[in-house]
Amino acid sequence: MARWFPVGHILLLAAAIAMASHPAARGSSCSVEGPRMDCGWVGIDGPTCVSRGCCWRPVHGADGEDEAGEGVDGASGVGDVPWCFHDTSHASAYNASSCKETGSGVQATLVLASPALPSLGPDISPLKLSVSYETNTRLHVKLTDPTEARWEVPESLLPRPAPSKASYGTLYDFNYTKSPFGFTVSRKENGEVLFNTTGHSLFFKDQYVALTSSIPESAALYGLGETTRPTGLRLRPGTMTTMWNRDIPVANANINLYGTHPFLLDIREGGLAHGVFFLNCNGMDVLYTESMIEFRAVGGVLDFYFFLGPSPSDVIQQYQDVIGRPMMPPLWSLGFHQCRYGYKNVEELESVVDGYASANIPLEVMWNDIDYMDGYRDFTLDKLNYALPKMRSYLQRLHDSNQRWVPIIDPGIMVDPGYPAYDAGIQKDIFLKDASGERYAGKVWPPIVHFPDWFHPDVQEYWTAQLRQFHDQLAAFDGIWADMNEASNFCSANRRSGKPLDLGRHGMVGTDACSSDFSSNSSLEHPPYRINNANGAPLSDRSIPVSMLHHDGVTEYDAHNIYGFSESVVTVKAVAEITEGRPFVLSRSTFPGAGKYVAHWSGDNMADWNNLRWSIVSILNANLFGIPMTGADICGFFGTTTEELCARWISLGAFTPFTRAHSDHVPQELYLWPKTADAARKALGMRMRLTPYLYSAFKAVHSAGGTVASPLWMAFPEDSTTYDIDRQFLLGPGLLVSPVLEQGADRVDAYFPNGTWYDLWNNASKIQGPGTHSLEAPVGDIPVHVLGGTIIPTQAQGPTTAHVRETPLSLIVALAPEGDLSGSLAAQGSVYMDAGDTLKVDGPDSFTVEFEARTAHGRGVLTTTAVPPSNAERSIPQLGGLDVLGFECPQVDARDGPGLPHGAATIEVSVNVNGAAHPQAAILRDVARGSLHVSGLATSIERGVKVEWRCDSSYPTT
Ligand code: NOJ
Repeated sequence: MARWFPVGHILLLAAAIAMASHPAARGSSCSVEGPRMDCGWVGIDGPTCVSRGCCWRPVHGADGEDEAGEGVDGASGVGDVPWCFHDTSHASAYNASSCKETGSGVQATLVLASPALPSLGPDISPLKLSVSYETNTRLHVKLTDPTEARWEVPESLLPRPAPSKASYGTLYDFNYTKSPFGFTVSRKENGEVLFNTTGHSLFFKDQYVALTSSIPESAALYGLGETTRPTGLRLRPGTMTTMWNRDIPVANANINLYGTHPFLLDIREGGLAHGVFFLNCNGMDVLYTESMIEFRAVGGVLDFYFFLGPSPSDVIQQYQDVIGRPMMPPLWSLGFHQCRYGYKNVEELESVVDGYASANIPLEVMWNDIDYMDGYRDFTLDKLNYALPKMRSYLQRLHDSNQRWVPIIDPGIMVDPGYPAYDAGIQKDIFLKDASGERYAGKVWPPIVHFPDWFHPDVQEYWTAQLRQFHDQLAAFDGIWADMNEASNFCSANRRSGKPLDLGRHGMVGTDACSSDFSSNSSLEHPPYRINNANGAPLSDRSIPVSMLHHDGVTEYDAHNIYGFSESVVTVKAVAEITEGRPFVLSRSTFPGAGKYVAHWSGDNMADWNNLRWSIVSILNANLFGIPMTGADICGFFGTTTEELCARWISLGAFTPFTRAHSDHVPQELYLWPKTADAARKALGMRMRLTPYLYSAFKAVHSAGGTVASPLWMAFPEDSTTYDIDRQFLLGPGLLVSPVLEQGADRVDAYFPNGTWYDLWNNASKIQGPGTHSLEAPVGDIPVHVLGGTIIPTQAQGPTTAHVRETPLSLIVALAPEGDLSGSLAAQGSVYMDAGDTLKVDGPDSFTVEFEARTAHGRGVLTTTAVPPSNAERSIPQLGGLDVLGFECPQVDARDGPGLPHGAATIEVSVNVNGAAHPQAAILRDVARGSLHVSGLATSIERGVKVEWRCDSSYPTT
C-alpha cells in the first residue's frame, strides 16, 4: 500500500533524539519502541522500504495497532508516525590502530569494529584520522577515506590556513581511546571537557557521516544556521538545525533558509568560550539535545576545527583565521539604502529620491529589484520603463549628488537565443548540465533559465564580461545585489516534465521548463538518510537538481550549499575590476567564508512585530558567522507595514550594520508617514554622525577579526544574565542598543552589564550596571548608550557619507569612573579613515588616529596620536569638538576657601589646546548632567593634539 508519511519536524527530531542518545540501548532490530527515524518518502510501499534495509511497520489506528498487530508504543499519533523507519538499535564503532603521536598531532587508522544502520549504506573502513595541533588555540581533527578521495569544500574557495610553526603550548588537550575509538578535547587550564565523542556512534558511509559529542546541560550554545528561531539566539535543547540552502522566507521559523553555517560557539561556566566548526558543505542536520550534539551530513568527510578562545571574541577571531576575515565595506555602503520590489519606472525612482530629499532624511543608495530588466534578463534594461536615456540621466543625477545605485542580478540566465548573455554562456559552455551532457533548464523569473557553473574555468571571464557590458554600456552600477543564489528554482521536485522549450526570442509563453525528471530513484535524489529539508522536501525541490554536474564532474548534491558562495566570489572579483574600487556585493546565500567577500541581508521577512524582534537574532547570527555587514528588510518585506512598526524598525535599523528598507510592491519609503519620517530623521541622523565610528569598527574586524553587531555576552561573557539577551545588542565596541520591539509600548526594559553607561542622545543620564532599567522611549526614540571607557569618533550629520566625510571630527569621551590621581586611563578609542572606496585598505590614503583620555580630580587630558605619523596622500579632518561625559569637578567646601562659607567658591573650567588657552565662550559645562562640551577646536590632528581641562575654583575678593 502506498501512502504518504508526513515527516513532522518534531517527530523526526524525537526519533533522532532517541537514536542519538541511546545508540546501543535497544537490542532487537526494528524495535517499535520509542520514536522512529524516518526512512521513507512520499509514496513508498512496504517492499520498497524493506528493500532499502529499513523497517516497515504501518500504523493504522489511534489505539496504536500496526498492520501486523504489534503494539506501537511511543507512536505519537496516527498520520505523524513514519511507517518506514531506520533500525536504530545498534551503535556504530571503529577501533584505532597504527597510532602515531608527535608533538604536532596524532595520526591513526580506524577500522570498523561494529557496523550499524545498514539501511544508510555500507560503512567505509579503514578511515584515516589526522589530528593537528595547528596553533595554541586551534585544533584540527579530520577523518577521511584513505583509499578513495572524497568530496571536500574546495581549497580554491576556502583556503585552509597552514598550521603555525610557532605553536607554544596549547590551551587544549586532545585525548583518545582506541577500542572503540573516541576522543575528547579539554581545556588545559581547568581540565573541563569541551567535546567528547566517547560512548557515541561514529558513522562514515558514502552518504552518511556523523559524529556526536556529549554536551553538559549548563552549556550556553550559539550558532548553526541559517534559520529563524523564535526561541532566540541561544540554542535550546531539542533543536534540529538543517543546513541545505533554500529559498524560504526568513519569516518562516525553524526551517532551513538561504545559507549554511555549521559553526557553534559554546560558553561554559565562568564565561570561558570555545568554538566548533564542522567544515562540510553537504546537506546536514545538526541535532542538539540536553546531553549531546550530533553532526550528520549526507556526504563529504568529518572535518572539525576547535577554537579555544577563551573569550567569545577570541573564538570569533580564531574562527575567522580559518574562514577569512570580513571584507572592508566601502564607506558609502554605511549610508541608508532604499529599495522596493515593484518600482515601475525611472520616474518613480526619481520621485523617491526627491521624497527623501524634501523630507530631509539621509539617502545614500537607491536599489533596483528585477523590475528594471527587459523580461527578467540579467544585464538588460526594460526598453520602455527604464529606457536608456532616462536611466542614464537618473544615474548621473544620483552620482552627482554622491548617491549610488545597486541593481539586482539573479544567477539564472534566460534561455533565449539572440540574448547576448545566453549566447555567450552557450559559446563558453559555462552552464550546468546533466549526466547526459544536456544543459539543465529550470524556471525562475524568466520562464526558462540555465544556471552558470561557478566552478567552470571560464565563468569568471563570462560573468565579468556581462557585468562590464552592462556597467559600461547601459547602467553604471556601484555595487551588485546577488539574489536567488541558493540557487532558487521554481521547478518542484515532484514534477515530471519534458525538455526545455525553445520558444525563440519573442515567443516566450511556455512555463514548463523544468527539464529534469526528479522522480528517479537515484541515490542522489533519494539519499538513504533524508535531512529535514523544508520539513520533508526532496533535496532537488525548488533548486537545481542534485544530479546536475559542475565542471570536473562535481555533483550539485555535493556543491549545492556553496553555489551562492562561489557566485559571490566571482561577482566580487568582477565588480572590483569593473568599478576599479572596493567592491560591494550583497548576497542572499552564504557559507563560511562569505563574509570575506559580501554583505548579507536576512531575506524575505514579514512586516510584523515578530519579524522585527527576530531580525536582531538574524543579524547577530550573521555576525557570529563572519558576515558583519548584515541587516534586515527595514519595515518588513511581505505584508503591509504600519506607521508605528516602520518607525520602530528604522529606529532599530539605523543601528544595524547594513541599513536598507525594502518591500514587496507596497510603498514603504520612510517619508510616507510623519512619525516614521521623524524616527528616520533622528535615528539616521545619528547614524550619519556615527559614520567614522562604524567605519572604524568595520576596519577593526577586517584587520583583526570579530563582530560589528554583537550579543552582550561577546563583551561580558562572565555575566550569565547576558546569555539569554537578544533584544539588545552592542554596535561596535562601545554602544549598547536597546530598541522598543512591542506594539504600543513606549518603554523598554533594558539590561546594562557592569560599567557606566551614558545616554547617547543627551550625552548624560548615567546608568550604573549591572542591572535592568525601564527606559522611556516613545515612538521615534531608541535608547542607545555609550560604555564608559570608550571614545566615540563622530562627524556632523549629512545626507550621505561623502558629506559627512568633509566635516570636522568630534569626540564623545565617555569616562570610566576610575580615573585616579596617578592619571589612570579613563577612556580610549580610535578612528580609521581612508578615501572610502579604494581597493586597498591601509593604503597610502589611509590613517588611524588613536585617542586616549586620562582624568584625575577635576583635571583631564585627551591626546591624539596619528598612525602613521605622516603620509602625503591622506587628508585628515580637523578635530572640531569634544564631549566629555562623566565629568565632575571636585566639591569645594568652606575649608578650601579662605574662611568663606560653603558654596562661595565659583568653579570655572578652563581648557588648553596644545598649551594655548581655549576661549571660555566655547566651553560649556553642564553640571546637572556631568558633561563638558568643548567646541570650536578647529585643530589639525596631523601631528597630535593635546586638550587639557581643569576645574578652577576662585573666591570673591573682599
Ligand atoms: C527574492 C528576494 O529575497 C527579494 O528581496 C526580492 O525582492 C525578490 N526576490 C524579487 O527579486
